[in-house]
Amino acid sequence: MANITVKTLLKMKERGERIAMMTAYDYPTAKLLDEAGLHVLLIGDSLGMVVQGNTTTIPVTLDDIVYHTRMVRRGAEHALIVSDMPFLTTHGLPEDVLQKAGRLMQEGGAHAVKIEGGKELASVVSRLVTAGIPVMGHIGLTPQSVHALGGFSVQGRTVASAKRMLEDAAALEEAGAFAIVLEMVPAEVAQWISSKLRIPTIGIGAGSFCDGQVLVFHDAMGFTSGYIPKHNKAYANLADTIAVAARDYVREVANGSFPGEAQTVHLKPEELDKLFN
Ligand code: KIV
Ligand code: NA
Repeated sequence: MANITVKTLLKMKERGERIAMMTAYDYPTAKLLDEAGLHVLLIGDSLGMVVQGNTTTIPVTLDDIVYHTRMVRRGAEHALIVSDMPFLTTHGLPEDVLQKAGRLMQEGGAHAVKIEGGKELASVVSRLVTAGIPVMGHIGLTPQSVHALGGFSVQGRTVASAKRMLEDAAALEEAGAFAIVLEMVPAEVAQWISSKLRIPTIGIGAGSFCDGQVLVFHDAMGFTSGYIPKHNKAYANLADTIAVAARDYVREVANGSFPGEAQTVHLKPEELDKLFN
């Protein structure tokens, strides 16, 4: 597979080819997902929930995203690496926003950043793009605004809010964004927005008509004990696999059957003689 760039994603939309994106937070996972053919790996601030155990993405820091981006970048050969700008980092002084996005690329090795918000961030997007930082937008449910929105709920159910969402998407495209995540949007609204944009839409809980799909790794792999959103599909059951393996290990340590001969090093007879003489 050739290396995926922002241009590749635009071409994929033109050709009607679907984009597969998933979050990744560490080296071994990134390596497996990259080898499996994922086009885009996202170091999402969802790591605040699925890795750190917080109830929202708000506690995640820029340092957290830099740290995880470095690990993912080392594991990925072909995929486009996109890193989330955490809570508040896109709302400071222009030079501060630029410097923070720059850290994700310079220190983390990201190829692009993702920011939550609509037309109010158009000037931020164009400034980043002008500086050589590709930007992915993210509208619909924007989890960093969970307290302002009043929960993790579907967005764009009314005509007014759907029209506002299209305006946001168009403004982001106009400002130079290369793709837009649509999160928790009715399928019909996501289809309508996707048809109006030249750049690809990547849906999560946004139906099957988006130009691509994104899932959170832990949800997609059944590696969670917490809340599972309705739009998720678990393609594996890692939680059960790990629980069974961990119980087996505890039992074998307790009964002495681990380590066995296969995992054990012995002294040779002559070495043994020396030890006791
Ligand atoms: O943080 C994240 O994982 C995300 C995706 C759900 C799009 O932003
Ligand atoms: Na995110």
